Amino acid sequence: SWTMLNIVEDSIDAVRRQVGDGRAICALSGGVDSAVAAAIVQRAIGDRLTCVFVDHGLLRKGEAEQVERDFVAVTGVKLRVVDAADRFLKALEGVSDPEEKRKIIGREFIRVFEDEQRAIMADGPVEFLVQGTLYPDVVESGGGTGTANIKSHHNVGGLPDDLQFKLVEPLRALFKDEVRRAGEELGLPSAMVWRQPFPGPGLGIRIVGEVTRERLDLLREADAIAREELSRAGLDRQIWQCPVVLLADVRSVGVQGDGRTYGHPVVLRPVTSEDAMTADWARVPYDVLSRISTRITNEVREVNRVVLDVTSKPPGTIEWE
Ligand code: XMP
Repeated sequence: SWTMLNIVEDSIDAVRRQVGDGRAICALSGGVDSAVAAAIVQRAIGDRLTCVFVDHGLLRKGEAEQVERDFVAVTGVKLRVVDAADRFLKALEGVSDPEEKRKIIGREFIRVFEDEQRAIMADGPVEFLVQGTLYPDVVESGGGTGTANIKSHHNVGGLPDDLQFKLVEPLRALFKDEVRRAGEELGLPSAMVWRQPFPGPGLGIRIVGEVTRERLDLLREADAIAREELSRAGLDRQIWQCPVVLLADVRSVGVQGDGRTYGHPVVLRPVTSEDAMTADWARVPYDVLSRISTRITNEVREVNRVVLDVTSKPPGTIEWE
């Protein structure tokens, strides 16, 4: 729209004024906020922005490609990709406790990003850090400016707050729906623009139990099927998000073909919500649930049962960990 075009153009001008002929870095998470922020800054300062995408191996099917291929193709952004899956898996070995997992993932992310930062700075100083802070985040954190000040909850894919960067926050005045419209205006891939909330620690906190490569592969397949069927049923805009959770330490007996199976359950957790502070379980039509269940149990080896989470928030959280 005309006004959104103006907002985007103004924001590009403001970044140009702020950064001058300096350099900036930006961590891409795969989500819409960091993508739109990076696209705006790229338009303002071109190659003096370097983006870093840390692939921790905990993303969903197709999401790494969306960043590395589609986003780069559209924006021409200078991107460094770090395939850090092995490193994250190693660090998560033997860990089942949810808070421990979150800490490890956050810590590893910062370490990998700092290595990249050093490599980028070998070509010359970098003064600016780009962040996709939205207006509601600004309000929530007391409206402060100038230093990285993000809820620790949302800090995976974020950064430690003692870095000596000046922040560039082109989305500070925008609400989520405006960010999505800006993303469309900038021509970003629609899967990114319309991506539902996804936690920074990714699938790592949707495996109840230890995180392993095999379990991640199972969960990625099950999640892709659920997303595909919910989209096909036209439910994307009605459902806030639908975590798919693998109960990796639970097994149950089943029967398939002529044989007994002894596999794992996955949980579907479709919710409706306004802001994720409270949520209700989404009344997904039975025939859609049925298709998801049939496909997951047929197509995902090791999963022989699909269950539905019918808990509101509170008392349940949206995620299981
Ligand atoms: P809960 O599970 O607390 O989740 O009801 C509320 C919303 O926050 C998302 N979430 C996270 N997002 N980093 C994030 O960026 C995180 O560590 C994180 N944990 C939960 C969750 O998906 C839901 O939308």
